[in-house]
Amino acid sequence: MRRAAWSSVLRGCGAEMRIDVLTLFPEMFAGPLDSSILGRARASGLVEVVVHDIRDYTDDRHRTADDYPYGGGAGMVLKADPIFRAVDSLAPGWQTAGGGAGKIPGLRFIYLTPQGTPLDQALVRRLSREKRLVLLAGHYEGVDERVREALVDEEISIGDYVLTGGELPAMVVIDAVARLLPGVLGREESALEESFADGLLEHPHYTRPAETRGLRVPEVLLSGHHEMVRRWRRRESLRRTLERRPELLLEARLTAEDHAILWEFAGAGTPAGAAGTGTTAGDGVTARPDESAGAGTPTGRSEE
Ligand code: ADE
Repeated sequence: MRRAAWSSVLRGCGAEMRIDVLTLFPEMFAGPLDSSILGRARASGLVEVVVHDIRDYTDDRHRTADDYPYGGGAGMVLKADPIFRAVDSLAPGWQTAGGGAGKIPGLRFIYLTPQGTPLDQALVRRLSREKRLVLLAGHYEGVDERVREALVDEEISIGDYVLTGGELPAMVVIDAVARLLPGVLGREESALEESFADGLLEHPHYTRPAETRGLRVPEVLLSGHHEMVRRWRRRESLRRTLERRPELLLEARLTAEDHAILWEFAGAGTPAGAAGTGTTAGDGVTARPDESAGAGTPTGRSEE
């Protein structure tokens, strides 16, 4: 499909944020962008996503977007000129425009590559404050270095593994950023987001029936006692974080009650000791007060 056609498929209208994607495989984006929360956000105009086929900006009959590396060696390199031309159409005059925080005023140009800064929720939050993002999905051995020098403000990796291209990483960035834009999440989903904001992993969830195949839902959740349910959930959230990602506790927002629970786990020898399940915690979790990162607690930051 040609550029104009993809634009009409993938475009929302007047939005909180506009995201342009430069890719060799625009067709990969249609499913994820049209479905679920992202599809709804685009349909209601909260985020506009425009996907551009880099080959539409080539200047030869074969629509060549890559070439052999100067100096020899295996693999192909994404050519600079089609990308520069694509940006000419997105931000006319960008090469002469000065000012602004990034290389092109008014937008943040991001290159998806395993060499980039690892994506985390803090980076997602920062990106969600931009008005306009351009995401370049790399392929082959990489991109002509002049693209990096002239255009790229930031390089992002979605993890220490190598994918066939930057399309899936670009979709991950779009999804993670879009869900933080005002109005994208419904009321219940937003509440959930707030509960993550304290930096802990989530507690376990159960739904009906209360028993299946001899497996019962914890009694406290059936009790209707809101305060006890709240305490159980917090405790399980702390336990899960301690078991799986103890390093998160160093940055988590913890109350005095949380610290007491963590000390209790530490005293039990294993974080899951009290429940008789799970694995032992990493170093530091069971540290005595004088060894720990925080003052008098097994964890770092305290809210109180
Ligand atoms: N391109 C290929 N692998 C990638 C990764 N892990 N993150 C970002 N871009 C990539």
